[in-house]
Amino acid sequence: MTEPATNYQALAAEYARHRRVHPGVVEEIVTAARRAAAVDLLEVGCGSGNYLEVIGGLTGARVVGIDPSSAMLDQLRARLPEAEVTVAPGEAIPFPDRSFDLIYSVDVIHHVKDRDAYFREVARVLRPSGTIVTVTDSEEDLARRVPLTSHFPETLAHERRRYPTIGTLRDEMTRAGLIDLRESNVELSYPLTDIAGLRNKAYSSLHLITDEEHARGIARLEADLANGPIEARSLYTLLWGRAPNEDTQSV
Ligand SMILES: C[S@@+](CC[C@H](N)C(=O)[O-])C[C@H]1O[C@@H](n2cnc3c(N)ncnc32)[C@H](O)[C@@H]1O
Repeated sequence: MTEPATNYQALAAEYARHRRVHPGVVEEIVTAARRAAAVDLLEVGCGSGNYLEVIGGLTGARVVGIDPSSAMLDQLRARLPEAEVTVAPGEAIPFPDRSFDLIYSVDVIHHVKDRDAYFREVARVLRPSGTIVTVTDSEEDLARRVPLTSHFPETLAHERRRYPTIGTLRDEMTRAGLIDLRESNVELSYPLTDIAGLRNKAYSSLHLITDEEHARGIARLEADLANGPIEARSLYTLLWGRAPNEDTQSV
């Protein structure tokens, strides 16, 4: 059974209104960009531009974005009219070979239909020794999400079908010729008081469960909130890789 694709054309306004960056993800990517003295960065699936804006601001580097949803890029352009963004999927990156020092994606890889094509494109447009990082949820991350999994437990089975495992991603990256694979993790606890984004389904997993399941989750949240803020947990796995260096990269 495959999960239905998320309709970001319809979800764009709610997404832009409610979703924010994870500070740990920003810190990891900014540190890697600075360490590599990266000049040209590509964000795949930049959506409404949360990460593109913050990472561009902190690194001072050129950060280009692509996303197949014109509605998501409209949200981005409304806030960042000067941003260099193009409607395109990760499977067909509209840039010449060896254009970027660092390519990143956040919360996107489970939406990419042909990941082998995507990682081949990454290997093509990365400069020698350039860095790729895929920010995603491991199987364990999915199970530990609060409030998505804790309060909407029916999301978990859908998410397990949607998300490629870290092992699968490693195999796909290796097939594409990417090397030096490693993982890092970020985790953040914060007091949740505003559930408008959950009510309005600003999270694609809430579109995979039934309306009754969603309503039960909202009722659980309301009952817990009556006792004070909910201790929410946001966590990610970052899967890193590199293009081979000049001596070994094919031309
Ligand atoms: C959960 S949103 C993440 C947006 C942004 N990265 C962020 O974290 O705020 C997923 C994004 O992936 C985009 N997307 C879907 N399929 C894609 C593909 N094949 N290649 C690149 N991006 C894709 C969607 O349009 C959407 O903007």
